[in-house]
Amino acid sequence: MKRIKAALLVTTAALLASSASAAGKLEIFSWWSGDEGPALEALVKLYKQKYPSVDVVNATVAGGAGTNAKAVLKTRMLGGDPPDSFQAHAGQELIGTWVVANRMEDLSSLFKSEGWTTKFPKDLLPLISSKGGIWSVPVNVHRSNVMWYIPANLKKWGVTAPKTWDQFLTTCKTLKTKNVTPLALGENWTQQHLWESVAVGTLGAQGWQNLWSGKLKFTDPKVVKVWDTFGKVLDCTNKDASGLSWQQATDRVVNGQAAFNIMGDWAAGYLSTTKKLKPGTGFGWAPSPSTSGTFIFLADSFGLPKGAKDRAEALSWLKLLGSKQGQDTFNPLKGSIAARVDSDLSKYSTYSQSAAKDWKSNKIVGSLTHGAVAPESFTSTFGTVIDAFVASRNAQVAAATTQQLADKAGLGK
Ligand code: GAL
Repeated sequence: MKRIKAALLVTTAALLASSASAAGKLEIFSWWSGDEGPALEALVKLYKQKYPSVDVVNATVAGGAGTNAKAVLKTRMLGGDPPDSFQAHAGQELIGTWVVANRMEDLSSLFKSEGWTTKFPKDLLPLISSKGGIWSVPVNVHRSNVMWYIPANLKKWGVTAPKTWDQFLTTCKTLKTKNVTPLALGENWTQQHLWESVAVGTLGAQGWQNLWSGKLKFTDPKVVKVWDTFGKVLDCTNKDASGLSWQQATDRVVNGQAAFNIMGDWAAGYLSTTKKLKPGTGFGWAPSPSTSGTFIFLADSFGLPKGAKDRAEALSWLKLLGSKQGQDTFNPLKGSIAARVDSDLSKYSTYSQSAAKDWKSNKIVGSLTHGAVAPESFTSTFGTVIDAFVASRNAQVAAATTQQLADKAGLGK
């Protein structure tokens, strides 16, 4: 009898404890899992320290650039089952997709009460604002146009990081004679990512901006030339690209099968946090060819969808995300710099310190692949143009199809 009583007491205590720990719930949704997980996990840990009674569900759908996650998110949003807070890129991915569909809550009052209107850079605020509202909280600034390499390997092969696409094509020839893949490439979205570096390098920062404001047509001979150069660059990449994740492409550089990789600076997070290589000596970087002085940027942000089941917890999550402590916990592990203007750079790697310097002094343009300049409907269909070009190498057709997509998406209107 005594034993039964004791067991009952234990069970009641356990039930009480579990109901205390489940006083609140928070479901956050992103594509930061596996190798991409550590920065988000550190932020969740910090959240749990501050709100120990909230049960955090860290819902992730794996897959670089969120290609898989965005599809799942769409189903959930349209099905009336939004996560409490989800990852979306600042810019058209957020505004042109979820804000125009009237699915997000305006966060202006949160920005006011947290004093954030002066804490985020002038270049960034317009990308999260529209219709008089502010629609998400940016957690970072990533750079898209970075070329990564292993200094010791370049030395062994007698090459240096090329500064222009012409130089790259010469270096490509040299590397081929040594049986080294000049440029490691991965699945479709990483090809699109490479395309934007070739485009900005060929058109210049202003030309790139003109493309998205509608002043420069995709069918203009200058833009057709981007495709020609892209084709030549593709000839310097591995043949099995479509089957590789961005991490697997980066691994080819690390293990010496390939010389370079063009990837956003989440690769710096991967190379230092996962691969334990030291920035500067273990791995090196340079702006992607012909883009020195230009910073192609993107920002990950989280918003509050209408109908979130745990609204109060989501708001406390957003508060942490936008705070100095939150950003300086997350970004040193992620490879990005803080979106806030007041972060403590001594907490960051030498790579991130150099990115922070460039962010202040370079011309800033938005990334296509990562949602800054075009809505999701354009970006995802542009992937099929890339696929078709990889197979056909027909620059004229690629240019004409892209212009059709731009017209359909109402770009520049
Ligand atoms: C980007 C995202 C980065 C990183 C990358 C690779 O779209 O902004 O934070 O996750 O995809 O998956």
